[in-house]
Amino acid sequence: MSLPRYQYTGPVDHTVVPDREKIRGKSVIITGGANGMGEVCVRDFAAAGAFVTFADLNEERGKAIEAELNANGVCSVFVKCDIRDWDQQIAMFETAKSKSPHNSVDVVIANAGISRSSGDSLWNLDDPNGEPTKPNLNIVRDRDRCFIMTGSMVSYIDSPGNWEYTATKHGLRGFMKTARRSSWEQGIRINYVAPCWIKSAIRTAEYEKWLVDRGVEFGEQIDVAGCMMRISTDRSINVEQPLFHDHPRSIAKEGFMDVNREDYFDTPEDAYMKRTQESQLVIIEDKWRDDYKVRVYKKD
Ligand SMILES: NC(=O)c1ccc[n+]([C@@H]2O[C@H](COP(=O)([O-])OP(=O)(O)OC[C@H]3O[C@@H](n4cnc5c(N)ncnc54)[C@H](O)[C@@H]3O)[C@@H](O)[C@H]2O)c1
Repeated sequence: MSLPRYQYTGPVDHTVVPDREKIRGKSVIITGGANGMGEVCVRDFAAAGAFVTFADLNEERGKAIEAELNANGVCSVFVKCDIRDWDQQIAMFETAKSKSPHNSVDVVIANAGISRSSGDSLWNLDDPNGEPTKPNLNIVRDRDRCFIMTGSMVSYIDSPGNWEYTATKHGLRGFMKTARRSSWEQGIRINYVAPCWIKSAIRTAEYEKWLVDRGVEFGEQIDVAGCMMRISTDRSINVEQPLFHDHPRSIAKEGFMDVNREDYFDTPEDAYMKRTQESQLVIIEDKWRDDYKVRVYKKD
């Protein structure tokens, strides 16, 4: 089944219970899967019958989780991988492809991440070496395939002090808005999940307590997994409604909802932005056409 071009059709109904049977036998990659919400996703997708390839820097924890999950038959494989390294990422994709039941990669959850409170800089995630080359994933076209980016609520609100983190999560959101317009060509659904505060090892226990003491409301890791499951198992959640937010259960009892903020509507306030958005779309041409030529936007 080919994927339609992106068109806004209204927010996703977040109250629909995911059909977990649809993930059975699928090959799912989860980065940053040895801890936090990534680990919860690994466990949840494996429990639903997916073949999970999970990658992380933390080999000891990754191997322990792999052994635990595979105690009753192989349903997961851990790959030590630093997502900043191109070759290690290739190895992760190749492992998922070769070890999975259908020699495929169906769902990718790009979850690995760090924050400044971990004492590092997200700028370091950029690979400064080498030219990027298109990976040859060579996957059968009529399979449902889905790429989910773990963003953050900070790409929708102001977050003073979080310069690098906020810039990268906004960058990822911008990437989603571009990718969703041409993803029909590759037949890969594009989605962006923006978790609210979630308790995890991304920040210290002391800092977490400091936040709780100041009334910060946290969401549940299992609801992040629920959100990923909902997107992964519903082919209609494509680019139609690319955004899911993880919300505290006091806001949405499912723990997530579509905040519906990625499009312009038929209102007088939105008219100019909607028109501008439409004019922006004229730059898209089908690059698979025989006579396609890359446009030169500006002479050097
Ligand atoms: N916890 C929150 O409040 C929150 C809120 C919004 C978004 N997020 C996002 O959710 C994602 C997961 O965060 P979490 O809270 O579960 O964090 P976590 O620290 O509990 O887990 C993150 C995992 O990613 C791994 N990792 C980090 N850098 C890596 C690299 N270069 N290569 C491979 N693995 C790497 C770590 O080893 C760790 O196991 C991140 O992208 C984070 O930005 C978290």
